[in-house]
Amino acid sequence: MSSAPNNSVPERLLVCIAWPYAKTSTHVGQIVGSILPGDIFARYSRMSGKDVLMVSGSDEHGTPIVVDADREGISPREFVARHHAQILEIWQRLGISWDLYTETTTENHYRVTQDFFLRLLEKEYIYKDSMNSPYCPTDQRFLPDRYINGTCPYCGFADARGDQCDNCGRTLDPEQLLNPRCRLCGSVSSAIEIRPTEHFFLDLPKFEPQLLAWLEANKARWRPNVTNFALNWIREGLRARAITRDLDWGVPVPLPGFDDKRIYVWFDAVIGYLSASIEWAAVNGHPDAWKPFWELLPDGSAPSRSYYFIGKDNIPFHTIIWPAMLLGYGGLTIPYDVPANEFMTMGGFKASSSRGNVIWTKDVLDLYGPDPLRFYLASTMPETHDTDFTFDELVRRNNDELVATYGNAVHRLLTFAHRNFEGKVPQPGTLGAADNAMLAAVRQGLVAAGEAIESVRLRDGLGEAMSVARAANRYLDEQAPWKRIKTDREGAATTVHTMIQVLNGLKVLFAPYVPFSSQRLHELLGFSGDVEDCAWRADEVPVGQVLPVPTPLFAKYDPPIATEGSAQ
Ligand code: MF3
Ligand code: ZN
Repeated sequence: MSSAPNNSVPERLLVCIAWPYAKTSTHVGQIVGSILPGDIFARYSRMSGKDVLMVSGSDEHGTPIVVDADREGISPREFVARHHAQILEIWQRLGISWDLYTETTTENHYRVTQDFFLRLLEKEYIYKDSMNSPYCPTDQRFLPDRYINGTCPYCGFADARGDQCDNCGRTLDPEQLLNPRCRLCGSVSSAIEIRPTEHFFLDLPKFEPQLLAWLEANKARWRPNVTNFALNWIREGLRARAITRDLDWGVPVPLPGFDDKRIYVWFDAVIGYLSASIEWAAVNGHPDAWKPFWELLPDGSAPSRSYYFIGKDNIPFHTIIWPAMLLGYGGLTIPYDVPANEFMTMGGFKASSSRGNVIWTKDVLDLYGPDPLRFYLASTMPETHDTDFTFDELVRRNNDELVATYGNAVHRLLTFAHRNFEGKVPQPGTLGAADNAMLAAVRQGLVAAGEAIESVRLRDGLGEAMSVARAANRYLDEQAPWKRIKTDREGAATTVHTMIQVLNGLKVLFAPYVPFSSQRLHELLGFSGDVEDCAWRADEVPVGQVLPVPTPLFAKYDPPIATEGSAQ
């Protein structure tokens, strides 16, 4: 069903989505920030005939996971396995169309990460050095990353973590923190010692010219905030970054004498995009199938376009560190676009699980099901500025837009067809100007939505779908086949036939956003099989096709009970 001519190779797209920590269940901030945009983009791209590989997985290393597992008295391995299983269930319920969603604790990932490390070491992009690291004499251990808090040396934020400042977004090394405090025992700066320890460093300054040239070349296409963030980071001067830690949870350093150290969680996590692609190929019985997505062509050009869907707090890792790692490794494609989203606040407040201001995806799914959530998040996606989540707005959008506009057009037409045309697509008469204009609006909507999604303006893509749905409602009101049928049965048949074609276009337009209801509409229009196998166009629904008894696509919900100052 692909629209690509037989002799042409479909364009390849690598859809990479930020790896959530297997530390909690997933919350709607993660869904709107990276997971849903990646899924919408991948679903559209497949329907428009592209060869898509969409991968991610659970990010299972790092100090926060060790700290939380300790607190629960279980091993980190047990801790992440539990969360990974819960996350997988959410993806299923939310309809996230992964080619592979794996985890960073697989043997394959360890092997690929260690290979990556050794290759960079051999090419001298990684070097060994001694560094001074905070050490807590009470706990008798070094304090990497989140074992330590302190004041950010850049912006003065008092609660910065050892690896990143939540306020200004800069990545940090623990020894940069001012007034450090141990998070295990609470010891303050005077008690914390600085001791030398050996680590490996990624020599970021070596990549500066290449990164600058690459960022400049991509500038016109990228979101300005993403490019600016990366350029500012480079202008402040890149520093070599420690990529190992004094820790016993993580990918082992593949060299003798480093048994008590592990590779830094961020270094291994970004490699996940590559290792997951390799795993996907192996699992599907074509071990080389990842290569056409990753390996540069003999002339050095990119074999595919790689898109990285992330939240804005992950910008440095995807626009500087991972590209540098890929350039150092050599022969692999670097990001084509990094459409990072801004944040979504929850009922006016920053999402924060420690402050209890988090909305769990599972809870919203239990209340409203997947499509109302996907629809609402897509229509308020923080693409260019922060947006806010409220349950009131979710319900309003569901009732006013999904139910009253899209669902209404579908249900009115299908029940009418059932009552008056024996539940079959009727033979139309000659199409009039209004019919042709409506069909043209669908075709134009498909083109416009496609263009919007291809340039990762996903809200606009949904806006195009909604405006076709509104036009379809107006067309139906104006044609009023329920009146016309009394005097002009053929005219009413023409409207019904036209509307069936329109609905077949709406099913496609909405499929990336609300796939479950598009699948149902696909079936209500008398088709079997998967809606996602349809091409990005409104195929003709043949005269005589049997339409099953219609049931409404969407349910109306009561407005939630208001609780002031809270998203719930
Ligand atoms: N786990 C990180 C976060 O939630 C994101 C990792 S993205 C990856 O912020 F590329 F590094 F995997
Ligand atoms: Zn800061």
